[in-house]
Amino acid sequence: MEFKFDISSVLRKPISVFTADSLPRHPALLERVIEVIDELGVASAKAQGLRGPVTTSHKLRANPTHRVYVMKSNEPGNSPPSDPSPDHPDYHDGPRSKKRRGSAAIGIVKVGIKSLFLVDEYGRHLQVSPLCVLDFYVHEDFQRQGCGRKLFDYMLTIEMQRPGHLAYDRPSPKLTAFLKKHYGLSEYIHQPNNFVVYKEYGLACLHID
Ligand code: ACO
Repeated sequence: MEFKFDISSVLRKPISVFTADSLPRHPALLERVIEVIDELGVASAKAQGLRGPVTTSHKLRANPTHRVYVMKSNEPGNSPPSDPSPDHPDYHDGPRSKKRRGSAAIGIVKVGIKSLFLVDEYGRHLQVSPLCVLDFYVHEDFQRQGCGRKLFDYMLTIEMQRPGHLAYDRPSPKLTAFLKKHYGLSEYIHQPNNFVVYKEYGLACLHID
């Protein structure tokens, strides 16, 4: 997904994290971040056949526990970032770096804490506040090339989480296939509220209020 401006002016790292508090204060930069987040949110909703976007800059600003991770490509139309770890030299390149010019925003994952009533595998009702995966999308041109895995792994590292300890809001078949392939998650407990939690680590792993 390309924009009229150089997205490296607002996405300085291979994967950037935005919260309500960390949005740029400069009006011009804020406007750019809003455009990137909103467009990725719309594309994600379209890919999932949703009526409206789950991810918008407006919702991000209204929810202090929400964090949006945005991935960009290295170069226009090129392969995914080779290594988004903080030790990679790309992290320290300035925003004017030539190799950044023309790169595209290619993926988004949004997480946030929600208070949920869930049923465990024994039928017990629990009120828990897990970190939830609320939205996840990689641009169609970059799917099935490992971008989703890099983005998700980065989010897990920053959040200090394991995939089976998260709750998933209405996971799509692509997401359940992704979780099975990369993290071996297969047995899940579908909840009346359309969230999914996996049996592998059990609800005992979630924080119980
Ligand atoms: N059909 C089935 N499984 C798929 C598909 C597909 N079209 N695309 C990706 N996957 C799964 C498969 O397990 C695939 O492995 P395979 O190619 O060996 O079969 C694996 O994901 C690929 O892993 P990555 O390349 O690391 O992931 P990718 O970059 O494709 O991103 C994502 C995965 C985000 C789910 C992407 O496919 C996507 O954006 N899908 C459309 C939007 C969507 O469904 N998002 C989840 C919504 S639910 C929620 O957010 C809580």
